[in-house]
Amino acid sequence: MNRFIFCLVVLLQLPLPSFGQTLENVTKLYDDLFSSYRRNIIPMNNHSEPIEISLAFYLLSINSFREIEETLVLTGGLSVIWKDASLSWNPEDYGNTYSLEVDSTDIWIPWIYLINNAKEFEPIGFDSAFRVYINSSGFVQYSPGSILEAKCQTDISKFPLDTQPCLLEFLSWSGHAGTYKLISSFDEVNLDYYTKNSNWEVVTGDTYAQLDPRGYYRFFMRLSLKREPVYYIVMIVLPTMLLSLLNPLVFLLPVESGERISLAMTVLLSYAILFNTCFSINSSIL
Ligand SMILES: *[C@@H]1O[C@H](CO)[C@@H](O)[C@H](O)[C@H]1NC(C)=O
Ligand SMILES: *[C@@H]1O[C@H](CO)[C@@H](O)[C@H](O)[C@H]1NC(C)=O
Ligand SMILES: *[C@@H]1O[C@H](CO)[C@@H](O)[C@H](O)[C@H]1NC(C)=O
Repeated sequence: MNRFIFCLVVLLQLPLPSFGQTLENVTKLYDDLFSSYRRNIIPMNNHSEPIEISLAFYLLSINSFREIEETLVLTGGLSVIWKDASLSWNPEDYGNTYSLEVDSTDIWIPWIYLINNAKEFEPIGFDSAFRVYINSSGFVQYSPGSILEAKCQTDISKFPLDTQPCLLEFLSWSGHAGTYKLISSFDEVNLDYYTKNSNWEVVTGDTYAQLDPRGYYRFFMRLSLKREPVYYIVMIVLPTMLLSLLNPLVFLLPVESGERISLAMTVLLSYAILFNTCFSINSSIL
């Protein structure tokens, strides 16, 4: 029985590795790292080489697509990883502390902007607080998120059976060419935390980084969104077709009855009321 309990305890403890660090060890590490740290200086050892910044995009939700303004509103986050040359340590010197979590205001962070922005122009994540995670080799992981509004050219010629492409373009706006090298960590947008939208389906989402002719790296997130057409078919297409079928029936009425004009007028008024209702239900249609 004792052996069984011992085995159970050992098994339960296995997934939780104990490194043995204490609060004192971590505090000492923090003091040592940050006592002479300057968060306004780019952490590059050699300024002839660019600082490599790996990016991944997490799509959380599609909030709206405003066709008239050509604006896509979505909630998303970036996962940004870079190496800070002055934030590495030897874990054994601090009771096996392999990583440290600090506030993003404590350290230097790259400012990544959405270039085809339709809202305030500020670095992603600047309107909220995020923590960063540093490992003992000096790699920093920062995951800012925000509600993004991006300009996307729309083509509604196939409405309501359309698919809209949208390209979000990110750039480290500050600095001269060759300071930052943006790298895409994955080929695809991460949908692990995505909440479905009933009007738009995400068909594909890919990410890639490219060097532009002026020597700046850009990070792209390309989405392809397919409209869910049922609502529009029921609300617009079907009533319009019914009314247009009703219209030629005017000629079946005998001339003597004198009702031709009144039926034609009724159909015309029905069109007016139908479109008026559609506009007030969803002002973004048409
Ligand atoms: C800095 O990087 C440049 C280009 O890679 C290299 O030629 C130079 O030797 C490096 N300097 C130092 C001090 O490492
Ligand atoms: C970690 O902290 C404990 C006390 O809290 C101390 O005894 C130990 O020496 C520290 N380890 C290192 C490597 O400094
Ligand atoms: C720190 O993170 C980087 C990037 O994720 C990884 O390559 C490296 O192995 C990590 N180092 C340690 C000591 O965990």
